[in-house]
Amino acid sequence: MGNNWEEIAKKIIAKETKVVERNRGKIPYTAKDHVFDDWSDREGICWWTNGFYGGTMWQLYNATKNDLFKECAEELENKLDAVLMDYDGMDHDSGFRWLPTAVANYRLFKGKESKNRALLAATNMAGRFNINGNFIRAWNDWGDGRDTKGWAIIDCMMNLPLLYWASEELGDPRFKAIATAHADTAIKSFVREDGSVCHIVGFDPTSGERLRDYGGQGYGDGSSWTRGQSWALYGFILSYMHTGEKKYLETALKVADRFIERIPESGLIPVDFDQPAEPAYIDSTAAAIASSGLITLYNIICDEQHSDEYSKYFASAEKMLSALDELDCDYDPEHDEMLTRCTAAYHDKEHEFPIIYGDYYYIEAIWKLTGRELFIW
Ligand code: GLY
Repeated sequence: MGNNWEEIAKKIIAKETKVVERNRGKIPYTAKDHVFDDWSDREGICWWTNGFYGGTMWQLYNATKNDLFKECAEELENKLDAVLMDYDGMDHDSGFRWLPTAVANYRLFKGKESKNRALLAATNMAGRFNINGNFIRAWNDWGDGRDTKGWAIIDCMMNLPLLYWASEELGDPRFKAIATAHADTAIKSFVREDGSVCHIVGFDPTSGERLRDYGGQGYGDGSSWTRGQSWALYGFILSYMHTGEKKYLETALKVADRFIERIPESGLIPVDFDQPAEPAYIDSTAAAIASSGLITLYNIICDEQHSDEYSKYFASAEKMLSALDELDCDYDPEHDEMLTRCTAAYHDKEHEFPIIYGDYYYIEAIWKLTGRELFIW
């Protein structure tokens, strides 16, 4: 590989220092005309992505010790208190909101307020567990007629570490028991024979019976939405890291094997592995998340089993990151966004635009390659 990851890391730090200076107080989701938008207001504050800019700040603080990043991360964390005071705004994405913010802060500085926030969020998330079907309910009803009381989604695998953290912090197994019960359900009900995963599964919320799956944000029922594959890949690795249970590592490997055999020659990842050839929509968030997960997977199994056969996981991460670096990264310090071709959902009207969690996971992956990472999950 010709990429110099160290040089790329330095470019990222130079850019982000400028970006953060001119975007103080914002909670961005996307950028329009190269300027970050802001979701800090009452309508936007509960959005599931609002922790990622905070996580970016903590990664940059960890790499530079520049207090600007710490102050911005803390300001964002304080703003998220409004979500904790809005029961309807809380959903299963507490992990995405408070692991990169309050838990990251707490890991570094042990502040009581950060711990309190993270434990309140974990407790609310634990309260979403449906004991009849052993799953964590994903969303609240949106008022569009759909009953989502029995819905769980694969993305939740990335939220489980908030529960693992709460159990580790309190020395209390309750939270971990819920996380592993959900992860076991995910193995049974989401992971297909070939290692791909579905996005949404609907259970009967009273009997717990698995009713059906849905295509969700992917191309359609039975398809392989790539960000969902990435959440599963990375999420099962994290469940293995937090529990030591081999079944989670085996599942992560199964999902990873299927993912890497479908990486296109270009290294850029489509929105869905089963989408039609045209339009060839790209989702670089899936590439960034999967890359970061694969690097961790490789590091774990190399430490434990010392085998060259696993180098394919590292090589696949490098292939995707190289493609992002060369084809999809905007390092211009005057532009707020980094990745430019991210897609929230296949059937949305808009495709291939900047999304904040794409930038977060790209930076996290580069940090892993250059020894700068703050462990978030
Ligand atoms: N967790 C929602 C998404 O990945 O779009």
